Amino acid sequence: MADASCLQTRLCDLLGLRYPIVQAGMAGVAGPELVAAVSEAGGLGVLGGFTLEPDELRRQIRAVKELTRKPFGVNLWTHPAVTTPGPRPRADAATMGAVCAALNAFRATMGLPAQTDAQAVSSAGIAAHVDVVLEEHVPVLSVALGDPGASLVERCHERGTRVMAMITTVEEARTVARAGVDLVVAQGSEAGGHHSTWTTRTDTARSGALALLPEVVDAVDRPVLVAGGIADGRGIASVICLGASGVVLGTRFVATREARAPEFWKAAIVKAGAHDTVVTTAYTGLPARAIRNAFSDGYAESNAPTLPPLQQKRAAQDIFDNARANADTRYFPMWAGQSVGVIHDIPSAREIVQRLITEATQTLQSMVHDLA
Ligand SMILES: Cc1cc2nc3c(=O)[nH]c(=O)nc-3n(C[C@H](O)[C@H](O)[C@H](O)COP(=O)(O)O)c2cc1C
Repeated sequence: MADASCLQTRLCDLLGLRYPIVQAGMAGVAGPELVAAVSEAGGLGVLGGFTLEPDELRRQIRAVKELTRKPFGVNLWTHPAVTTPGPRPRADAATMGAVCAALNAFRATMGLPAQTDAQAVSSAGIAAHVDVVLEEHVPVLSVALGDPGASLVERCHERGTRVMAMITTVEEARTVARAGVDLVVAQGSEAGGHHSTWTTRTDTARSGALALLPEVVDAVDRPVLVAGGIADGRGIASVICLGASGVVLGTRFVATREARAPEFWKAAIVKAGAHDTVVTTAYTGLPARAIRNAFSDGYAESNAPTLPPLQQKRAAQDIFDNARANADTRYFPMWAGQSVGVIHDIPSAREIVQRLITEATQTLQSMVHDLA
């Protein structure tokens, strides 16, 4: 390995990491195997936590601890649609009818029965998840899609848990900084998965990482990480130059052996180019970037509205389950960012961390050499 001392950042000092690389907490994809592999390799592995029942979250946290003694994190969504407990209001009949009609067109091609209504959605909130994180003394709580608020951050700090919050605008960065988070993650619009915003409208154009990162670095007095568009060491070197204390990578880690994503999804990432991804609300009711397929294209062409956050996902769940069971890439949400264009293989997570560090170090050193 090349000498990586040029990559020793404030993030490394704060969390006791060897390298400033964070694997994004990805619900359903980042389980204990991936998390432990990244942490063991010198980065920070983060469990995808918000879709797990609290007992299962505790089991997975303990599984990580069995595999590594290095720091790791748990990711939770702090979007109001998740944190507010209770039943969600039903959509009006016209909206529900239009959504069902759009979804039934996919069901017809899959041999699934048509539906005229969607199951009601209710949230249990995240209080029990937070209790598990604190009781288990997880080193880092990573939050997304919402302001964690000062009282949650204080509770974490009392237990020695650091808080990392992902935002998409400079105003959101100031809000989470005021709440006292230790680390701010600036997520550019290139990112795979959901846009980590709670203040912007779904149709608002969002900043790319290159523009957002330096603006956030100037606006908040704490280490800033960047997410979106980075899948190799050149990307890491460039954002270090822009003031990032670290990087959060999602898509690159989906295409690893340890990720819990189905193989057809990993293969689709390897095959895709940056122009093959699209931002859509059709899967969950919230804007998220995924590989374009018959579902995202067909839903857009139908001009149907989408149901509120997470109700849309519940309404289409039978379609996604069937697609997963049949390795049907046409109708499955294959979250991925624009960085897919530089991903060409499916190695181990350890290999990825080592490769990223070697490439980043060499890039930074060759810049210094060229300038000398
Ligand atoms: C498959 C996938 C699932 C994701 N799930 C989550 C999640 O559960 N929570 C979260 O905070 N971010 C999630 N993200 C977004 C990441 O935190 C991060 O912003 C993004 O992956 C960075 O862009 P990149 O994919 O180009 O590396 C997910 C991303 C992907 C690709």
